[in-house]
Amino acid sequence: MRIVVTGGAGDLGGRVVRELTRRGHEAVAASRRSGVDLAIGAGLDAVLDGADAVVHSATSPRRPQTVDVAGATRIGESLRRLASPAHVVSISIVGCDRIAYPYYRAKLDSETALERAGVPTTIVRATQFHSLAALLASVLRVGPLSVSVGHMRSQPVDIDWVAARLADHATAAAPDGFVRARELAGPTAYDAGALSALVAEHDGRRPPRTVRIPPVGKVLRGFAEGRNLPGPEAETGGRPFEDWLAAQPRPLPRRMHSPT
Ligand SMILES: NC(=O)c1ccc[n+]([C@@H]2O[C@H](COP(=O)([O-])OP(=O)(O)OC[C@H]3O[C@@H](n4cnc5c(N)ncnc54)[C@H](OP(=O)(O)O)[C@@H]3O)[C@@H](O)[C@H]2O)c1
Repeated sequence: MRIVVTGGAGDLGGRVVRELTRRGHEAVAASRRSGVDLAIGAGLDAVLDGADAVVHSATSPRRPQTVDVAGATRIGESLRRLASPAHVVSISIVGCDRIAYPYYRAKLDSETALERAGVPTTIVRATQFHSLAALLASVLRVGPLSVSVGHMRSQPVDIDWVAARLADHATAAAPDGFVRARELAGPTAYDAGALSALVAEHDGRRPPRTVRIPPVGKVLRGFAEGRNLPGPEAETGGRPFEDWLAAQPRPLPRRMHSPT
């Protein structure tokens, strides 16, 4: 199959490209560095022509309405002009419909844009990747303390497993219309303090004492109430956070993406 991966040079998209290639498919990475700019639509029609599936993984956390949402709209418009539109598999975030965080709202808007386009679409919502959970645990550690919003928990997931599941969806038969696949999450939910302790131990530091601040405002309340957690029907899998962490450099680099 010929499968276009938007954001195919990114952390998740790159893994999807490698996984599809390993399975013998033609995976085409589409982003600005290959001449496809979702913010203005440049190069999109040409790359989508003849595609069997599209994995939409491009994102801009700073300009999500321009890249994620307008990008999804443009992908839908471009595919609708084709005699047999490709199946779109779009990555989204667990809780994007329940937490009023602007980036989450944009992910929900991207889903809606594809639903309105009327092309065969599978939405796959995933929880935070392990690297993001670890980064947040590091950032929220201040000396001997770690800060948690109330009793916030998260259930981070292995990015390689998410990439493999996206590849599974992209190579499966296209649905008749718009569907949401089961949410993807890692095997375990952790209290924010427990994640900080795991990261501190990995870095060779004493476990920090957790200071719990009250959840002020809708967004923080949403996280403190667990609206970022997957539902009971979620599909769980991939490496547990501890196994992923053990494979990372020590101390953990304070950056978003990890090499494995
Ligand atoms: N991180 C998490 O915990 C998490 C959890 C659940 C879901 N997700 C979702 O997973 C997806 C991928 O995240 P990621 O962390 O892999 O992102 P990433 O590494 O930042 O990659 C983003 C990609 O988007 C491309 N891009 C940015 N602006 C573009 C534009 N105007 N036109 C075309 N391409 C553009 C970039 O390539 P160029 O610079 O070459 O354009 C880059 O390859 C996102 O949709 C995110 O919402 C992430």
